[in-house]
Amino acid sequence: MAEMQNDVGLIGLAVMGANLARNLADHGFRVAVYNRTSAVTREFKSTTGRSERLIPCYELSALVASLTRPRRILLMIKAGPAVDAVLRELTGLLEPGDVVVDGGNSFFRDTERRQQELAAIGVMLVGAGISGGAEGALHGPAIMPGGDVRAWPLLRELLQTIAATAPDGAPCCEWVGPGGSGHYVKMVHNGIEYAEMELLAEGYGLLRRAGVDNADCARIFAGYNRGRLAGYLPEITAAVLIYRDPETGAALIDRIRDNAGSKGTGRWTVDSALELGVPVPTLAEALFVRYASGQVELREALAQPDPGAAESSGASAEALASMLEPALYVGKVCAYAQGFALLKAAAAAYSWDLNCAAIAGIWRGGCILRSVLLEPIRLAFQRQPGLENLLAAEFAAAELAPALPPFRTLLGRAFALGTPVPALASALGYWEVLHSAQLPTNLVQAQRDYFGAHTFERIDRPRGEFFHAAWSAADDGRSDVSSRS
Ligand code: 6PG
Repeated sequence: MAEMQNDVGLIGLAVMGANLARNLADHGFRVAVYNRTSAVTREFKSTTGRSERLIPCYELSALVASLTRPRRILLMIKAGPAVDAVLRELTGLLEPGDVVVDGGNSFFRDTERRQQELAAIGVMLVGAGISGGAEGALHGPAIMPGGDVRAWPLLRELLQTIAATAPDGAPCCEWVGPGGSGHYVKMVHNGIEYAEMELLAEGYGLLRRAGVDNADCARIFAGYNRGRLAGYLPEITAAVLIYRDPETGAALIDRIRDNAGSKGTGRWTVDSALELGVPVPTLAEALFVRYASGQVELREALAQPDPGAAESSGASAEALASMLEPALYVGKVCAYAQGFALLKAAAAAYSWDLNCAAIAGIWRGGCILRSVLLEPIRLAFQRQPGLENLLAAEFAAAELAPALPPFRTLLGRAFALGTPVPALASALGYWEVLHSAQLPTNLVQAQRDYFGAHTFERIDRPRGEFFHAAWSAADDGRSDVSSRS
């Protein structure tokens, strides 16, 4: 093999890696490919065509030696210790100025640690969230790279060429920011992904509980996919619901166990929100329902006929569908509002200067979240980069107000039927809380002060002055409210 001829190295030939290698080759790049198990590399080479631009390597050293300098290496391996293992091996082979892109779903703090480790030898590690599943990897994913910005000019053409394009032709790949911000943004993408999936699942669950069959549910979701909810997830929902099990001929969805898995990004999103003190109730509910779905025995033991539940929804399928559409829309906007609020808090906490308009722009194509809603979100942040919460955006205020009455009615029906809609309910709760100038948390403050002398502020005194009241005889003798400013 001629040395130093290949444009990029790709390590890890599982589904995503293999398809990204094909995508790169289809765009004219010479790609040196390597997999830890040589048989996988051989199999890939023998089945994939594009032979002159996909160059198999059976040693990491051979892959590294075959690359033009500064080298560009894309890691498409499972997040976790495997990434550290490969980076350790690469450390002895790379030179200052080389760039390694971790395209997996690595935890952003791991990425930052690895960036520091590699910076010691002058190698730049870019943490790039890549979304779009197997098909996106082949035909154009959304890519969210972040790290040392000096790596961007070396990667820009490569990554933007293979990325999806948004409806306006912009590449769904932009530099996100420093440190682990690329992986962080992908993590929040996934947190929102969990929420949208759960909202759609709750809508499906409600329709099924109300007696709508799978084919009609599919028609309803396909209808939503022609309107403001249009996007990849509603689209595949309709496709999933009409898919027939080749074995039985019945709708496959009815044969699928309800135990929903997760690989970490959804939990990290909620962990991060807890750490930064950002409310993300809909993202959290979506995660918690996945956990609860795993409590199979408990749910089976507790499942009983509920004599208090209504027998029928009291509405036709069409009527339910027309209430569900605004409900899903509010839910989706609230999920994005929570996700972007988290991004803003992380940007402030970690000095990342994230561009929310650009992030919404990246998500318009290629990724699992792609949907028509991303364009108004992008425009809202473009017009008002300082926008604190998406619910304050003009489009959200205008579109959500008329959606709320049918949403509330729908939730009422769901509660009456006894069908679980925790993510939908959390979205309405989120909307209500953010639109309340006065919350009953004055009572929480009073309770805290009652049992723990945690003090409270008074509305008739300046902010920052704290008081304690002698609530009970057990209080330590102070009979009056006292200032603790
Ligand atoms: C994507 C997806 C993908 C993610 C899977 C699985 O954007 O292409 O987010 O990266 O890994 O959806 O996630 P869970 O197993 O946690 O559901």
